[in-house]
Amino acid sequence: MKITVVGAGNVGATCADVLAYREIANEVVLVDIKEGVAEGKSLDIWQKSPINLYDTRTIGSTNDYTKTANSDVVVITSGLPRKPGMTRDDLIQTNAGIVKSVTESVVKYSPNAVIIIVSNPLDVMTYQAHITSKFPRTKIMGMAGILDTARYKAFLAEELNVSPKDIQAVLMGGHGDTMVPLPRYTTVGGIPVTEMISAEKLDAIIERTKFGGGELVKLMGTSAWYAPGAAAAQMAEAIVKDQKRVFPVCVKLDGEYGIDDCYLGVPVILGKNGIEKFIELDLNADEMELLQTSRKHVKEVMEVLDRLNA
Ligand code: NAI
Ligand code: 2OP
Repeated sequence: MKITVVGAGNVGATCADVLAYREIANEVVLVDIKEGVAEGKSLDIWQKSPINLYDTRTIGSTNDYTKTANSDVVVITSGLPRKPGMTRDDLIQTNAGIVKSVTESVVKYSPNAVIIIVSNPLDVMTYQAHITSKFPRTKIMGMAGILDTARYKAFLAEELNVSPKDIQAVLMGGHGDTMVPLPRYTTVGGIPVTEMISAEKLDAIIERTKFGGGELVKLMGTSAWYAPGAAAAQMAEAIVKDQKRVFPVCVKLDGEYGIDDCYLGVPVILGKNGIEKFIELDLNADEMELLQTSRKHVKEVMEVLDRLNA
């Protein structure tokens, strides 16, 4: 199996490292536009193989997509990250151009790949990649739900003093402040979370999760990379190993949840064909209202992209 990661910055290099040391593919190609950076980071990851004991070959490339040919999965992380005071949507103009040109090159050499977008604003960059690639919607998706859900689980584990391994949860909607938390579907070792925590504390955790990306930008002056890189690698793993994992993933909705032509996070089954099934939860009126608010926000940013592409 061969996986390409475009963008050898914080998220891309972390993703490539996870893919290599967990032997998720035999070959991982890292691409960047900055001369030598992808080659250097690939070499560094390869030189770690005798220490961490893995066989995955890592290959770097400065914008030469012939090296990416016939990838099974391509993860696109190229683009500017947020600086303090910026929203993800502020990145649209620069990142749309980058995602468009990268997608054209990716598709030229790997016409059968499944593409995972990471660049922000996530939902709308998934839209950009979809219209550029013309791939079926099952083969082009965005990573955000696994990260947002992981933040929620990590905060809960800390508050309840339990292992994060025992928390099951799903968050839906756009990657941003309008994400849709679903405490009704959160359990701790099979026990509904509402039996383990007060409503006030749960609300505070939900609020912290919504702004979880911003919390890290404030601390570090740029956005997160360890959890995002690992989350993208987990999606790639589910696809190349045909694991049929259930994850929240950003996809184009064509009628699911009564929503048409909008890119939002929903739970799906991921396997060798990409998205193998859309799972439609029976949302209550409050949850549906939150999802509609998220839809409205993403749609507005999609319209900004339409104007840029006009
Ligand atoms: P970074 O600045 O560390 O890395 C970005 C890399 O992209 C740089 O090395 C840059 O040279 C490269 N690049 C720029 N244009 C390129 C092109 N045309 N072709 C190939 N490479 C190109 O940024 P970081 O922290 O890795 O973040 C990357 C993106 O991922 C940002 O847009 C960020 O907002 C987003 N992000 C999304 C998350 C999500 O949950 N979906 C989570 C974390 C970051
Ligand atoms: C995050 O949530 C920046 O979208 C990125 O960390």
